[in-house]
Amino acid sequence: MVNDHDIESSIRSRLNTKFVGRHLYYYHQLPTTMGTAKDLVKKGAAEGTVVIAGTQTAGKGRIGRTWLSPDGSLAMSVILKPPLKNLPQLVMIASLSVVSAIKQVAGLKAHIKWPNDVMIKDKKVCGILIENEVKGGRVNFAVIGIGINVNFNPLDFPEIADIATSLSHETGTEISHIELTSTLLSELERLYLGVQAGAAVHREWQKKMETLGKRIKVNAGKTVEQGKAETVTENGNLILRRADGSLAEIVAGDVTVIKE
Ligand code: BTN
Repeated sequence: MVNDHDIESSIRSRLNTKFVGRHLYYYHQLPTTMGTAKDLVKKGAAEGTVVIAGTQTAGKGRIGRTWLSPDGSLAMSVILKPPLKNLPQLVMIASLSVVSAIKQVAGLKAHIKWPNDVMIKDKKVCGILIENEVKGGRVNFAVIGIGINVNFNPLDFPEIADIATSLSHETGTEISHIELTSTLLSELERLYLGVQAGAAVHREWQKKMETLGKRIKVNAGKTVEQGKAETVTENGNLILRRADGSLAEIVAGDVTVIKE
C-alpha cells in the first residue's frame, strides 16, 4: 500500500512549479481540505501550500451545499495570496487549469459552466469553491478548493448519478491521480503568474465557456433571472439579456440551461 508520504513526494517530484505545491500535505481522510487549509493559513502557511485528501467526510460545495468526495475522487485546496486586483481571476485560472489538466492527462475535452463548474458534455466532473479574506484592501488569503470526480462510478451514488460524471467513467480506464494533480498544480501556477503579469485570461475562459449563447435561468439567491447568456465581464460576472431586451449583470448564482 502506498503511504501518504510517498504520495506527497510523487506529486512533488512531478511538479513543474516555483511555489505551488512546494509545501504539500496529503491526508488519507479529512472532514474538508478547506478547513485544514485555513488552519494552515492561521499558522502562517506560505503561498502555494496545497492540502489534498483521499476522501472527505464533510466536503463543502458552493452555496452551502455538500460535496461528495468518495474514494477515487480528488479533493484539494490551494492557498494563494494574490493582489486584490487579481482576486476575480482566481475562478478563471482554477477552471482553466482543470480543463487543461483533464485534456493532458485523460485526453478528454471539458468545458466550463458559469461560474466555475467543469463539465464533460452536460455532466459535472469538477466543482470549484473559492474562499477568501480581504481586509484593508489587501487579500489576507484565498483558498481555491477543487474537487474532481476521477476514478469512481457516479452511477454508484444516486444523489449525483443523473448530473455527474467522472474521468474513469468517460474514458473506461483508471486515471493517475498523481499525474492529474501535478499537471493541474503546474497549470494553476502558470496561469496565476500569467494574470499577475497582465495576461488576458478572461478571453481564454470565455472561449471554454459553453454557457454563452444559450437560454438560461440563473438562481442568484433572492432573485431568479432568465434570458440569453451573452458574455462575461473581465471580473467574471455574467451578462444576460432578458426577454425585454434589458441586460442583467450577475455576480454569483446557479445556472440551468433551458432546453429548447
Ligand atoms: C461546488 O461545485 O459546489 C464546489 C465544490 C468544491 C469541492 C472541493 S473538494 C476540495 C475542497 N474541499 C471542500 O470541502 N470543497 C472543495
